[in-house]
Amino acid sequence: MKKIRKAVFPVAGLGTRFLPATKAMPKEMLTVVDKPVIQYIVDEAREAGIEHFIFVTGRNKGVIEDHFDIAYELEQTLKSRNKVAELAILDGQRLRPGAASFTRQQEPLGLGHAVWCARDLVGDEPFAVMLPDMIMKGVGKSCLAQMTEVYHETGGNVVAVEECAPELAHQYGIVGVGAHKGKAFEITSMVEKPKAGTAPSNLFINGRYILQPRIFELLASQEKGAGNEIQLTDSMLKLMGEDAFWGVKFEGKTYDCGSKVGFLAANVAYGLERTELTADFKAEIAAILKGH
Ligand code: UTP
Repeated sequence: MKKIRKAVFPVAGLGTRFLPATKAMPKEMLTVVDKPVIQYIVDEAREAGIEHFIFVTGRNKGVIEDHFDIAYELEQTLKSRNKVAELAILDGQRLRPGAASFTRQQEPLGLGHAVWCARDLVGDEPFAVMLPDMIMKGVGKSCLAQMTEVYHETGGNVVAVEECAPELAHQYGIVGVGAHKGKAFEITSMVEKPKAGTAPSNLFINGRYILQPRIFELLASQEKGAGNEIQLTDSMLKLMGEDAFWGVKFEGKTYDCGSKVGFLAANVAYGLERTELTADFKAEIAAILKGH
């Protein structure tokens, strides 16, 4: 079975829910405590053993490329001032030379189209897709690491899922569930934003996928689906007719940083975890809550 070496980060969306912050800055560069959101996702990929990082970018996203590169002048200045701790932070987050690729999705035609734009960079091997606005705080292991563990048992295609309140199912991509195999279960159907009362379960796809390269041939038809966008789910449905799809229930907590509440909650959760901030931050939060 081929190892999952490459991950695709579709970062070409417009981020309209965060205007005006995202007018001149990509939403993936919004910070949770002191790291941009995209850094959390790349760290998750690294933890799962990903070796090559493929960013599908768009206009105004050049700063993401700079973030993972050397900042020559800054680093020279830090060296001359003997700022060892700060240099170590930058050393730890930079991607190795040759380990990152960037390609552009010229028009935001949908998530499926963004993934298809990575086809030549991925080539003929299974790969991960990681939505770059979902921060997943795994219990024990990261979300993608939980998935690759299952993938090594099952092969095929794997998606991570989570439970939602049944009345919220219409907001998500929902899966139908079949037989279990260890930690994995067969996925029998997928519905993008099902109408009330028609969802096959309350398990939604949370933004992490392991896919076989056949998906690129299916995406090539460029058929538009929900919202007049080229949807990844539509091609995954076609792939389901040919190949196995497995689900893994993510153990951990997800922060949807594409939404304001998720983004604010992530800042509180990760801020409280930082030992040097905990006491002061808790006191500030308590004082704010008193007034509400
Ligand atoms: P979203 O639906 O969150 O869209 O896309 P968005 O543009 O990022 O944000 P809003 O809704 O306008 O605020 C889900 C993921 O798919 C990527 C986005 O960057 C995001 O990570 N995407 C979406 C693309 O890369 N290209 C597209 O054409 C659409």
